[in-house]
Amino acid sequence: MNIGIDKIGFYTPPFALSMEDLAVERGVEPAKYTVGIGQSTMAVAPVTQDIVTMGANAAIEILDEADKEAIDMILVGTETGIDQSKSAAVYIQKLLGLSNRVRSVELKHACYGATAALQLAKGHITLNPESKVLVIASDIAKYGLKSGGEPTQGAGAVAMIVSAEPRLLRLEDEASLFTDDVMDFWRPNYEAYPMVDGKFSNEQYMRFFAEVWTDYATQTGATFADLEAICFHLPYTKMGLKAFKPFLEELPEEEQERLTTRYQESTAYNRHVGNIYTGSLFLSFISLIETSSVLVAGDRIGFFSYGSGAVGEFFVGELVEGFEKQLRVEVHQQLLENRKQVTVAEYETLFSQMVDESGEQTFQVEDKSLFILSGVHQHQRQYQKQ
Ligand code: HMG
Repeated sequence: MNIGIDKIGFYTPPFALSMEDLAVERGVEPAKYTVGIGQSTMAVAPVTQDIVTMGANAAIEILDEADKEAIDMILVGTETGIDQSKSAAVYIQKLLGLSNRVRSVELKHACYGATAALQLAKGHITLNPESKVLVIASDIAKYGLKSGGEPTQGAGAVAMIVSAEPRLLRLEDEASLFTDDVMDFWRPNYEAYPMVDGKFSNEQYMRFFAEVWTDYATQTGATFADLEAICFHLPYTKMGLKAFKPFLEELPEEEQERLTTRYQESTAYNRHVGNIYTGSLFLSFISLIETSSVLVAGDRIGFFSYGSGAVGEFFVGELVEGFEKQLRVEVHQQLLENRKQVTVAEYETLFSQMVDESGEQTFQVEDKSLFILSGVHQHQRQYQKQ
């Protein structure tokens, strides 16, 4: 049975900050952010957007009535949980008007959560071929104002419908996995922002890519010539290339050029959004299929998933016949273009507005997204469809 991604949608909040403006304000050479790190704009989440609203905003654009009837599982990968107990998937089930006869769960392992969700969805469809699974990756990456990680922040969600006989991408069965207990990035329950050893995290990312790619190639006999492109988890757009480079340099020039061009296409959207943790890999996939003009059905695409802490996985998907009908190029490009460009001062204000411990709050933000968090009443988040 063919199982994979039938549809894919994306949402990012309606505010964005120029990395050049941030660099000037922080007294940093702008090229460090735009070239060294490879980010042009950073998505900024207002207090009216959290993982629930972003996930629902990403999913609503791809759901039709047939999907709503067939979905019997909602999996939300995130590391920006809003509750220690209740899962974001339950709120999303209600906001989207999905059936009550669904299994709803939130999954966590840093940026790897949504890949785990995708593989679990595949297993579920294998047992229940008529089912569809809604997989959502939703996160807000915040490291703190003036922190080392500040230029690698971002916010957004990707929603995927996983089904049998998918119309976009068939997932192959082979995958290479690697888990090792490393302290490169973590967030204790009492901390608002992660603790991160930036340089060490880069090294671990590169080590994990080498581990899973080498193992995948040994297991399957695959070479880079078998893949039209590789999508990477992108904490910032330079990162994937840093890990890929030692392998790229060993390839014939023509192959290097092809894979480097595909890499640029797969990072185009991420360059304007920043890190969205669990969703970054899948945003890279959307960027690739919506900005490349050379992809054809049958092309095989590699995926490198990395979640600090750390778990890595390499797997492959094949574009299916008619995949281009599933693209939402205009919707996604408008989403990026129509964002309000904020000043650094406005970004700092938006950054600092949060749900607090009072249990009673009302939020006033110019946010026209379909789903918003309008406030908190008796410690319960108040979601609204506008
Ligand atoms: P930093 O110390 O500010 O930057 O940290 P740097 O000094 O390493 O410079 C960055 C690059 O800019 C370097 O390039 C410089 O040479 C270059 P590289 O040597 O690496 O190729 N540069 C310039 N280029 C052009 N013109 C200039 C210029 N100046 C410098 N004028 C760091 C950067 C990413 C470490 C920091 O922002 C950070 O800690 N970010 C958060 C951690 C992170 O993103 N880690 C990535 C791997 S871990 C991961 O992906 C998992 C994660 O998503 C979490 C999860 O799984 O949940 C983070």
